[in-house]
Order: sequence, then structure tokens, then C-alpha cells
Amino acid sequence: MFRFNFDVEDDTTNVDHTTQNKGPDSMQAVVPDTFTELFLVDVLNSLPSKISYSPITIPLASGGELSLPRRDLFDARFQLISQHADDPDALEQSSISARPALHFLDAPSDLVPLVYEGGLKTWECSLDLASYLDGISSQFDVSGKRVLEIGCGTSIPSLYILHRIFSSSPSQNQTHIHLQDYNASVLELVTIPNIILTWYSPLELNISEGLKDAFHQSLMTYGLHLRFFSGSWDTFDLRTSGGSYNLVLTSETIYRMESLPSLATIMRGACNAEGPKDVYDYLCLVAAKVLYFGVGGGVEEFVRCVRDLDKGGTVDTVWEKTQGVERRVISVRWN
Ligand SMILES: C[S@@+](CC[C@H](N)C(=O)[O-])C[C@H]1O[C@@H](n2cnc3c(N)ncnc32)[C@H](O)[C@@H]1O
Repeated sequence: MFRFNFDVEDDTTNVDHTTQNKGPDSMQAVVPDTFTELFLVDVLNSLPSKISYSPITIPLASGGELSLPRRDLFDARFQLISQHADDPDALEQSSISARPALHFLDAPSDLVPLVYEGGLKTWECSLDLASYLDGISSQFDVSGKRVLEIGCGTSIPSLYILHRIFSSSPSQNQTHIHLQDYNASVLELVTIPNIILTWYSPLELNISEGLKDAFHQSLMTYGLHLRFFSGSWDTFDLRTSGGSYNLVLTSETIYRMESLPSLATIMRGACNAEGPKDVYDYLCLVAAKVLYFGVGGGVEEFVRCVRDLDKGGTVDTVWEKTQGVERRVISVRWN
């Protein structure tokens, strides 16, 4: 068990590299989850009638702060338990996402490779990335573009983008925002609820049929197309997701050496570096700790991986914090 400090809320993040202690699946071999699309309409229909949330504050590069609503984890826990209230044994025996999700909702910092990868919590570099996006918002307009957030978890950078879109006038442009997380349960329990809350967050959010209709109507009005993909990076299918993107974002995803090649490969493919630059111009941004103690990953290892990849790329630091635990936002240009 390795422990290092890279969390917004506490300093008890664990990455388990042993075959022991794999939470509810400890006695089974780990078979990676494969690429799967989750449909917004299905997830909306599975949500409880009420959702509770608390604000998270993003310091903005342009000065000031932005407060975004984020679903409470205790509320997600309540949802899972209520869904299985009629048959508690079903939860215990479930082979689908509910059982591990319940375990990790209680210990969201305990990362277990290819079982649970930390998406239930908000990690601090995601705030750096949102803040950086704020700083470049006058130069890079996402309207009409294709955006992919890889390893989104609570999806703070995408929430920042959506907040901007929902705060501006509707546009004729069609904007595609795709979110990927290893765990389908993370997309169901936090990512999608957070998106609805970013659209509308009264004191108490009632997920009525009328609210769902209004949400779909708003997405159409703003030309927004949201898609959600779960599963391991090495199974991500760019053809299914519709090809290359103009903005590729990821935060706190370069902590594990073994995953770096598949992460770099997906990023490279998503940026379609071989396309004509005037059509396929892109921004590819990674927010991360410089070093993930005890796990081996970090900026240096990621840069080496990018450089060594077939038709690799180069990396520039576009933002950094050098005091305390060092953090960076880096921009990747693919060859
Ligand atoms: C520590 S969490 C960071 C979540 C979020 N980006 C943030 O900063 O708050 C790491 C994320 O990377 C994703 N991830 C890690 N390894 C992965 C893998 N091998 N395949 C797919 N996703 C992976 C998980 O989805 C997880 O949400």
C-alpha cells in the first residue's frame, strides 16, 4: 500500500499496488473494464428524485473565484443503497458496478488499479486546469468544438466549460463534450449529476420529468452534445466516439507508470496530430503533480513516455506552482 498527498480534501490517498486488499473484489483476478458508452437518458432515469450537493471553489486565473455545485458523496451512497433496498443481498452479490462503488464511496481516496481509479473525489490539479482554462478563455473558444476530458471523475474542468456555455447566449454552433472515466459508476453517481447541477442548482434539486425535459431542451438550445464513456484507456474506441478532438483535457491521471503509454496513446489519437493543422488544430492539456511519491508516475515520466511514443510529441509547461507539493499544467504538441 502506498500513500501520498494529492487530494483537495485530505491527505490520505492510497494507491494499492499489491494483489491484496482490493476492496470488495480482493479475491478475484482483475479484469479491466472495457470501453462502454453510457447514455445520458438512462443515467437521468436512474437518478433519485432529489440530489444534494455542496459548493466547490475554483480560484480563477482572471482573478476572483467561481463556485460550482458538486454532488455530495453521502447522497450518492444513499442512492445506491435505496436502489437495492428491496433486496440487500443483491447489492452484496452484485457483479456490476454497485458493490465496488459502495465500498469506494466510503473510501474514495483508496485507489486500486483497474478496480477503482479515484474518480469519486475531486483532486486538486483539476482546479488548476479549470483555472488555466479560465485564463485562456479569450483565446480558445470551445463553442463549435469537440472536447474530451480523459479520466474526468467529478469533471471540474468540463464543468467550468459548461458553466461558461450555460452562462452565455445560446449559439448556433454544435459543441461536443465527451467525458471518460474508468468507472461507469463514477459517471453515473457524480459526473452526470454534477453536469445537471452546473446547469441548474436551486437549493434543492428535484429530478422531475419536467426537469429532465428542460435539461434536454437546454442542451439542444445550446447545441451541446454530451457523451460518456467508461472503461480502460487501452480499450477506448475513437471511431465510436467520432474521431479527433480540438481540446483534450486530463488531470491527476499520470500517477501510475503502467498506464502512461495507454494514456499518451489515447491523447495522441484524440488530437489527430496527423490531420491538417488548420482543420484539426487542437489543445492538449495535462494537469498533474510533478511527482507522485511512492507510485513512480509524474511529469518527468509522462514527458519521457510522450517523447518515446511512436510519432511522439513535445511538452511545454504552461502553468506551475513551485511551492509545497509542485504542480503543473502542461501542453502537449504531437509530432
Ligand atoms: C485520481 S482520478 C482523477 C479524477 C479527476 N480527473 C480529478 O482530477 O479530480 C484518476 C482518473 O483517471 C482515470 N483512470 C486512471 N487510470 C485509468 C485507466 N487505466 N483507464 C481508464 N481510466 C483511468 C480514472 O477514471 C480516474 O477518474
